[in-house]
Amino acid sequence: MSKDNAPVIAVDGPGGSGKGTVTQMLAKKLGWHLLDSGALYRLTALAAIRQNVSLDNETELVRVAASLDVAFEPTPEGEPAKVILAGEDVTAEIRTETCGDNASRIAVMQSVRDALLQRQRDFQQEPGLVADGRDMGTVVFPNASVKIFLTASAEERAHRRYSQLKAAGVDVSIDAVLEEIRVRDERDINRSAAPLKPADDAQVIDSTGLSIKEVLSRCLAAVGQA
Ligand code: DC
Repeated sequence: MSKDNAPVIAVDGPGGSGKGTVTQMLAKKLGWHLLDSGALYRLTALAAIRQNVSLDNETELVRVAASLDVAFEPTPEGEPAKVILAGEDVTAEIRTETCGDNASRIAVMQSVRDALLQRQRDFQQEPGLVADGRDMGTVVFPNASVKIFLTASAEERAHRRYSQLKAAGVDVSIDAVLEEIRVRDERDINRSAAPLKPADDAQVIDSTGLSIKEVLSRCLAAVGQA
């Protein structure tokens, strides 16, 4: 069987919808590969800054995206993979609010998205792939066997993010987090290149008020493994 026939579960949705945690759990439960496509946009933004490339310089950003030297290193049970950029562990650095915001800014450029397309498709391998992003079901894997669009209210997503930041010792207000989420949603939803939206054949799951366990069981039901 060619790798292009390996099954794909596409999970799209806004930041804070629980996608990251749920896709990791799904991939582990099924024993499938995982693509964190947001990490590739974050890494492109980080690599650009490291190379003194302006986040407005589309030509240079395309070069940076196409030449990303990145490795996802598996870690022991249950932990997310380590992210290595040009030999350096940047797992924590790519998770900052600034890096997420920079990623969202460069992600509006079609040419940057094109430069990352094949790299994302290369993750499709047997026995299967769980793909986490904004355009997995609409653009990158339009033939995915299952498409899930995971969402939650902006307020709930802000509360989740706020708790994570507080737990990490970051001093921030809930209003500031909510505002950032709104700005990021607005940009991701309204861009012309691969905007954030459910694929026509996606199953929409609203995780507002649900625990991660409940979200996982709804996703498994959608996948037919419940
Ligand atoms: O999922 P995330 O927060 O790590 O993504 C960071 C940004 O990258 C997000 O605001 C928009 C962009 N992104 C995208 O445009 N397409 C994807 N498939 C994944 C992320």
